[in-house]
This record gives sequence, structure tokens and C-alpha cells, in this order.
Amino acid sequence: MSQYWDGRFAREGMIWGSEPSPSAEQARKLFLAEGVKSVLVPGAGYGRNTKVFSAGFTAYGVEMSAEALELAAEWDPETVFIAGSALEVQLNTQVDAVYCYDVLHLFMEAQRRQLVAACLDQLRPGGLLYFTSFSDEDPNNGTGNQLEPGTYEYKEGKYAHFFSEADLRDHFAGTEILETGSFTERLHSSQGGAHEYILRYIIARTLS
Ligand SMILES: C[S@@+](CC[C@H](N)C(=O)[O-])C[C@H]1O[C@@H](n2cnc3c(N)ncnc32)[C@H](O)[C@@H]1O
Repeated sequence: MSQYWDGRFAREGMIWGSEPSPSAEQARKLFLAEGVKSVLVPGAGYGRNTKVFSAGFTAYGVEMSAEALELAAEWDPETVFIAGSALEVQLNTQVDAVYCYDVLHLFMEAQRRQLVAACLDQLRPGGLLYFTSFSDEDPNNGTGNQLEPGTYEYKEGKYAHFFSEADLRDHFAGTEILETGSFTERLHSSQGGAHEYILRYIIARTLS
């Protein structure tokens, strides 16, 4: 997977532009209200969303693409970026919150479970999680070869998992789920185009 992402970041630079997702702003407000001081962003890319958090919290980004990390160091020098896999524990400290944008749907089931478990291991008891991922209401759901239930190779060589609400909740079993919902994300690419995706989000708290 890192070859795919390295290639894209090398060719397209800041693929989704410089504007953060509105979900990052929603998460920032919630984290502020909850007294959060530190935030982990797994699969941080070039820091499009970490910048929202590094402006007010201690922010850590975990990213496996060297190309993305080069862009991130320039775009968001306030975040501590760690080169490595978000599927493994990378921090030697526990954070108050995790914000994870459109990374969970990139994996097959075993790895999705591993990503959530790694995030929980890096969160303090009572810490907050805010995750987004592709929704089963997105038009790409059901397109191409089915690799696992709900997981499709929707473009050649590229697959994603499309979450129903129940499926998303199931991935966070063992946490206190505070809120779930859907929204349409409009992404403007660095090369002038725009795409829309239907996403789900989940907000949860680890048990104390
Ligand atoms: C769809 S992009 C989302 C980027 C970022 N969250 C954002 O909002 O701009 C997925 C990102 O996850 C990264 N990624 C994929 N698998 C990873 C892994 N196992 N560990 C760390 N990063 C990973 C990719 O390199 C890419 O930057």
C-alpha cells in the first residue's frame, strides 16, 4: 500500500488541497470542550487535518508514506510526525484523543481491527475517538469485485470497505459510542477537480 500512496503523493502533491475536512473542525471543538491536550492522527497524510489540531493541542501524526511525510514537515511543522504503520503502537505516551480520517476503510477486516486496537492502546482511559470512513451509502459501494463482505475493488488495484452504521459500531465494540452520523465530503484536488464521497463518522470514548 505504501507504494501506491508514495506514487500518488509524488505525482499529485497535496492531493486533497489545503482545506481541512469539516469533520476535523467538529472534532477540534469537541476535544476542546472535553479538555483534550493531545491528539493522535493515524494515517496523517501531508497534514491537511493535523494542522487543525496542532494549532491548539500537542499533535502526533503517524504516516507510512515518505513522500507524504516530506510534504507534512513543510505544511504542518507543529505536529510531531512519526514514520511508521498506524496498525502498530507508535507512541511511548498515551494521548487524550484520536482523530482518524478516511483510513479505516483502506484495510481488510483483520487489519481494520488491528488499527482500532492500536489506537485504543495509545489512548488514555476515558480518551476520545473520532473516526471517519466510507459509507455503504456511497455510490462506489458494490462496484467491482467483492473481496470480503462490504469490501470492494472499486477501482483497478484499489479497494475499500464501505461501512453500514451497524458495522462501524461493531468495530468500536468495547468503547462507549457517543455519536454516529453521515455526511457528504467534497474534496477539491490539487489539480483542479472535485470529488464527493459519502462518509460515516463515529465518536466514542474509551472505558475508564
Ligand atoms: C485517504 S488518505 C487520508 C489522509 C489523511 N488522513 C487526510 O485526511 O488527509 C490515507 C492515508 O493513510 C496512509 N496510510 C495507509 N496505510 C497506512 C498505515 N498502515 N500506516 C500509516 N499510514 C497509512 C496513506 O499513506 C495516506 O496518507
